[in-house]
This record gives sequence, C-alpha cells and structure tokens, in this order.
Amino acid sequence: MKIAIIGTGYVGLVTGTCFAKKGHDVICVDVIQEKVDMINQAIPPIYEEGLEELLKQTVKEGRLKATLDFKEAIQKSEIIFICVGTPSFSNGLLDDKYVRSAATSIAQAFQEGQEYKVVVVKSTCNPGTTTDIVKPILEKSKLTSGKDFGVGMNPEFLREGVALKDFLAPDRIVIGGNDERSQQLIAKTYEGFEAPILQVDPTTAEIIKLASNSFLAMKISFINEIANIAEKIGSDVSSIAQGVGMDERISNKFLRAGLGYGGSCFPKDVSALYQKSKELNVPSKLLEATIEANKIQPLRAIKLLKETLEEESLKDKRIAILGFAFKPDTDDVRDAVSVPIIEKLLAEGAIVYATDPVAMKNFKKEIENENLHLLSSIEDVLISAEGCILVTEWKEYKDISPAKFLELMKNPILIDGRRAYEHDRFIESDVKYKAIGLGNK
Ligand code: UGA
Repeated sequence: MKIAIIGTGYVGLVTGTCFAKKGHDVICVDVIQEKVDMINQAIPPIYEEGLEELLKQTVKEGRLKATLDFKEAIQKSEIIFICVGTPSFSNGLLDDKYVRSAATSIAQAFQEGQEYKVVVVKSTCNPGTTTDIVKPILEKSKLTSGKDFGVGMNPEFLREGVALKDFLAPDRIVIGGNDERSQQLIAKTYEGFEAPILQVDPTTAEIIKLASNSFLAMKISFINEIANIAEKIGSDVSSIAQGVGMDERISNKFLRAGLGYGGSCFPKDVSALYQKSKELNVPSKLLEATIEANKIQPLRAIKLLKETLEEESLKDKRIAILGFAFKPDTDDVRDAVSVPIIEKLLAEGAIVYATDPVAMKNFKKEIENENLHLLSSIEDVLISAEGCILVTEWKEYKDISPAKFLELMKNPILIDGRRAYEHDRFIESDVKYKAIGLGNK
C-alpha cells in the first residue's frame, strides 16, 4: 500500500520504517528540512535500538523516503497516518495544535476526484479528537467524508528501546475507523501481522490508548505502595510481586517496585485521562491516587537515605546519584524521577554529584545549581560520597561491586531505588545496602 506518515518523531519514524519493512511504500512528511535530509540519507534523527539498520535497508530498497512536500505525499497515498506530538497543557489535557495543523495541511492537499483515502490519527490524543476535530477540518476541503475520504484512530503501544519489536509483534492492533471502508483499509496495512485486531470507533480507540497507559501506571503505583507497606512490615516486595503476579489475571508485568514511573507517556497520559474524567464530572479517584502516589514515591529514596544515615539533615553532605534517564537504554529525561530527587536533595542543602551514561546532555537543561556537579565518571561521582542513590538501573551501575562502593565512598550507604542489585551481594560487605521494599533483609 502507499502510506504517508505525517511527523517524523519517534512514533512516525518507527511506524514508517516498520511499514516499509512490511513491504509498503512509505513517504514521511516533516516540516523540518534537516530531518527530511537525514532520513533520506538513512540517518535516524532519533535514537532507537535497531532503527538505523532498518532505515538503511528500507531507504536503500526504495520503500521509504522523506519529503517536505505535503501535496505530493498526500496525493500519492491511500492511507495517511498523523504521528505528530501532543504535548500537555498545564491542566493535564493534551494539546492537539499539531494534530489540527497536520489535518489542515492534509485538507489543503486534498483534490477533487482523488482516489479514496483514509486519514488515521496515531498520536495519543484527548477522546473525541479524531471525530470532533480532525474530521470537521478535513470536511472543510469540500470533499465528503465516507465518500472521498475516511478517518480513523489507530493508537501506538510502543515502548522506547523496544519500539520496533512492539510495532512488528504487537499484543493487539486497535483500529478505530469511522466506517466499514476505513476499518478495512486500515486493517489492510496490518496484513501479515500476527496479532488480534480489535475494531472500534475512533473515540473508543483514543480511550483505549489512555486507559492502557493509565492502567500500567496504576499497577506501578500500586506495587510501589505495597513496597512501602512491605518495608515497614519487614517483607520483600519482590517476593510479594512474584506471588501476586503468578495469578494469570494479574500477570507479573509492570510489578517492579521502584522510585516511580517517568517518561514522555505515562505521566502525560494519566493526567490527560484524569483531567477528562474531572471535566465530565466523574473524577477518577484511582487516577488521582496513581498520580499522587507517583509524586511521593521518588522521595522515598531520600527518606531511606536519612534513616540509614540516622540523620535528619543532609546539609553539606556529599550525595552521589547514579542515573537521570527515566529508564535505562534511553537518553530521555522527560518527567524522569531523577529531577524531583535531585531538586529535593539540593533544597535540603546537599552537594550532589551525579552521572548518567547517555542522558547527561539532556539533563543539563533540567536543573542548574552551583551545588550540582554532573560528571561522566562513576568513580568521580562516588568518591567521598556520604550516600549514593541509584535512580536508573543502567547495566554499568548494576556491575559496580560492593568493594568499589566501599573503596570510594566516605560513608558507604547505597540506596537502590530500582531493586537493581542482588541483596545477597552486600551481605558480607560493609556497604549499608537499602532498597525500595526490601524489608528486613
Ligand atoms: C509506555 C508504554 O509502556 C507503551 O506501551 C506506550 O506505547 C508508550 O508508553 C507510549 O504511550 O508511547 P515507555 O514510556 O517507553 O512506554 O516506557 P515503559 O517501558 O513503559 O516505562 C515507563 C516507566 O515505568 C519507566 O520510568 C519505568 O522505569 C517505570 N516502570 C516500568 C516501573 O517503575 N516498574 C515497572 O514494573 C515497569
């Protein structure tokens, strides 16, 4: 099929490249010349595991190209995916300005007598966006919905770091076409995928996306609260999660306790659905609690640190931080819990030495403070520290031996915010090892 992808950010580029791999002809449209040039030279403007290789292959085979030319891309395509960003408003709802401007450009590129096309929103958006905003904009073209074009919503469920796998081998494909013809055309793009397809209306598809992320975030906040209870009682949350997760109705996925969830999706999507529930006068208590629990959870690390130090004040104490990224294998620090943790440490007068293998550059834009020192070497961060908090479970941090913490730190206290270390490794050492939900061990 001939596919146009509007927006070559994370979702757009992964979607376009994967469709090209599946044998479709893909044109990616962006408004930034530099990005278009890079894609045509098979250089991905974003980092995602395996993307460069796949992009090279599909560009070389002539199945994927990028352009600034909206008209050409729209006219040549049977199906158009809108994959632009939807940032949050301060009240939590998602800003659809880029979706609207993409729809406007598509409408301008429509021509009378054109072959039937379906415009599909892939961007995560507020419920109702496809039907109440995108469709009316397209109708301004004077073409008729249902006759000349269709609309649909097809949410993405791509995790950063494993996005190609998530796209090519999904658990499910949700298709929200506004009529039978659109449903069929969207489903055709997924021919050959071995995944169940769920056909719904566009608004339901939008809610499925927000509810899926909200449920996963709620699972994390739930296990984090259980971790805090377990810690007080003296049980290990890992064993609790294992036992709970063995129930197939619950599953053990997304039951890793830690310092809370971050990233560009969970915090944003939970807030959007919560805000919508309030607007509709059915405020969701569970979503509210999920957000609240995730706000408090990062600060557990500081509480554990103080308890272990047996001191109330962190003033002038040198504290080491390992990791800024919201999860390992990414340089993304959006809504990462490293930010509130470091802010709180600085507010309490601590001197913070911190590092991350790839997210350093992005983190520099987040906090500037004379008491915050960003260093690239793990040793330089640990040396003379009176406490260390592991915030992101990068492999290189998991590999630090107890002997190393002991040798470098002034006061070898390690707070494992991600349950990254085997507790047994520290039993024989003099490192004071504390972890979220570890209990009495
Ligand atoms: C998430 C979803 O998992 C994707 O399905 C979705 O498509 C994507 O958002 C999106 O909306 O685009 P992503 O943000 O890449 O993907 O990150 P995850 O791997 O889901 O992790 C999110 C956060 O939860 C991380 O901070 C991670 O450390 C935390 N987490 C995850 C836990 O604290 N415990 C867990 O058990 C799992």
